[in-house]
This record gives sequence, C-alpha cells and structure tokens, in this order.
Amino acid sequence: MTPSSDLYSLSERYYLPVYRPRRIVLDHGRGARVWDREGREYVDFGAGIAVNALGHANPTLVAALTEQAGKLWHTSNVFVSEPPLRLAEELVTASRFAQRVFFCNSGAEANEAAIKLARKWATSQERTPDRRAILTFRGSFHGRTLAAVTAGAQPKYHEGFEPLPPGFRYSDFNDLAAAEAAMADGAVCAVLVEPVQGEGGVTPATPDFLLGLRALCDRHGALLMLDEIQCGMGRTGHLFACHAYGVTPDVVTLAKALGSGFPIGAMLVGERAAEAMQFGAHGTTFGGNPLGAAVARAALRELSSEALLANVARQSTVIREALAALDAELHLFSEVRGYGLMLGAQLRPEHAGKAAAILDLCVEQGLLLLQAGPDVLRFVPALNIDDADVAEGLARLGVALRAFASA
Ligand SMILES: Cc1ncc(COP(=O)(O)O)c(C=O)c1O
Repeated sequence: MTPSSDLYSLSERYYLPVYRPRRIVLDHGRGARVWDREGREYVDFGAGIAVNALGHANPTLVAALTEQAGKLWHTSNVFVSEPPLRLAEELVTASRFAQRVFFCNSGAEANEAAIKLARKWATSQERTPDRRAILTFRGSFHGRTLAAVTAGAQPKYHEGFEPLPPGFRYSDFNDLAAAEAAMADGAVCAVLVEPVQGEGGVTPATPDFLLGLRALCDRHGALLMLDEIQCGMGRTGHLFACHAYGVTPDVVTLAKALGSGFPIGAMLVGERAAEAMQFGAHGTTFGGNPLGAAVARAALRELSSEALLANVARQSTVIREALAALDAELHLFSEVRGYGLMLGAQLRPEHAGKAAAILDLCVEQGLLLLQAGPDVLRFVPALNIDDADVAEGLARLGVALRAFASA
C-alpha cells in the first residue's frame, strides 16, 4: 500500500495549491464516522462542509445511485429524462413558493444563475428596466465564480481578481436600516442573502431582518433571493430555511445537502420571476444530470421526514448544552450561535485566531470539525447523526479543548 504521506505529497505536487488539506487521507465512511487509510476512525462533525447530510455511504442513496447508474447517466438538456423532472416537481411542492427550477452542479453556479435571473427579470420590468444592482451583505459567502465571489462581500476573496463585475453593493448583515438606505436610490433589482451566514461565522439573520428585507423588496420592486446552499435542506430543522423564518422568497439557491454528497445545485424561482429566463437565456451541460437527480430525490425524501427534522432539533440542543458545559469549565467561547445543526462557537478575544489550532487537536482525538473564519468553530454534522456519535464526538471535543486550554 502506498504510504499516506506519499499520497499527500502527490496533492502538493499536482494540485493547484489553493487548498491546504489536513495530512490524513480519508478512505471510507459510514454514517457520521469516517476512516483514514491507516484504519483510524473519526467522528465527522463537518460532513464535507455541510454536504453529507445523510451521512457517509447512506444505503438509500447508494441504492438510488447504483440503480440509476445501471440505466442512464447523462442526457444533456437537449433531451429530458425522468429523475430531474420528478426532482423539480418535488422541490416545487416542498418549497411552498417555487414554480420553476433550474438545475446546475454547485452552489456558485446556482447563485450565478440567480444573479443572471435578477438582471434579466429587471430588464423585463416596464417599471424598473434600469435596475441592475444586487444588494448583498458583509460576511456573506456565495461561491467562487467571478460574479458569486463579487456577491460575497469579503474583500479577502476579491483581492487580485479585479476588475470585478460591476453592479453589486454591500451593506451590514442584520442592519435593516442600512439595507433600506442601500436601496433608497431605487437601483437595486435583487437582494441576495444567506438566512444563516455560514463561512462568515455561522450567524443567523434575525427574523426582523429577513422579514424586513422581504418588505423592502416589495416596496422597491426587487427580488428577495435566499442563498440556502449551506443552511437549507433540513439543516435548520426545517426543510427550507425560509420556512424556519416564515418568509416567502422569490428565489432560493440550493446545493451541498441537495445531493448529500453527489454534486448537484438548483435555483428555485417563485411566481414573480418564473418567466424571466426564456429559451437560450441560460444553460449548462451537466445540470439536471440523471445520476445527481436520482440521488437528490432519495435524499429529499429522507431530509423532509419528520423524524429527521426532529433529530436535528434534538441533537442541536445536545450539542449546545455540551458546548455550554465545556465553556463553563474552560471559558473558551464568547457565544454559541446558529440554527439547528448549523452551530458556531465564537472563541473569546484572548483565543482569537486559534480555531485552526483547535481543529488540529480535534483531528488528533479522532474528530473532524470545521472552522468558519479564524475565530469560530463550526458544527455541521450529518442531520441523521445518532446519539452515540454525537456523544462520542463531544467527548473527543472535550479532550481536545482541555488540551488546548492547558497548553
Ligand atoms: C452559503 C453558500 N453559498 C454558496 C456556496 C458555494 O457553493 P459551491 O462551493 O458548491 O460552489 C457555499 C459554499 O460553501 C455556501 O456556503
């Protein structure tokens, strides 16, 4: 067997060095546990960055994938096949707002489609054809294509890629008055917002903010577009984050847990803008691929089940209580926040910048955890994670945090 260190060296030799992966080589997984090539077992609280919502090697998803793999892999959108058609129908029904769906392969592509749709829609509005601006929020993350990265109001992801596409403006998250001021000149055709900011630090929108944005969009004739790529598909304990907030959007973008590990993204569009994109306006070769759609249909059935959504709420409470107990002992966190199984523990100022070091200690203890920026530990495990895996992961976290606190 090739030693893992040699395999890791291959990544350094051949990959564009845009990532800095951990020095372990993962081999296989089952549920919320994953094993490296040396047979070391880890509890997975990161789920491939909030993707493996139904755990690793989920038997239902494996069956859906293998059944479809024996039938038809790909058609392109020059032809139709049943799995993506049914998936579109099921997403429209489940969303309670959408009329039409566009399938793509990733989150960035879903947001790219939404940005294009907003502009096309504005062009078609007699009242507002010259509205081009898209309002987004500081700390947001919408992906890495040029328009999506521009929409994400984080300068560190912009640097060196100028000129950025024009027509984006930024305002402070959870500051409704600032959003109102940013829309006052009437140039904004759409607001794009994460109901729970993920990469930016696991920060939920306040209900007043999200509902207030809906009202502002109505007043100014703009679209409300929710990026639910990380917080959607059950992660909040509701199938859609917009349901958790009781807000009706015009557009929702999805990816990550939609395929629960198989790459697929989607843009869901409600009545106001469902006809904005007509023949030839947009497209992609792989979007709506039957393999991805078959997996996503199976995932959607599990992710919408009452039992799964109840598990999200229950495990969320368990993790929050454990983090509170660890904080009472170790005084590491200034805040634990989030929604459902999307939780962030903000490190106290004296531990600023130490999230990566804590993650290293977690790996040593057999726990895969994520950060959201340098100061926040991010918990986004599989949504069907069971009591034993949560308990074991938290026990290992405790050992890692005690080692950190006593160093
Ligand atoms: C909220 C949000 N939007 C968009 C994206 C981009 O998705 P992808 O990496 O699939 O392009 C991400 C990825 O982390 C995300 O968290």
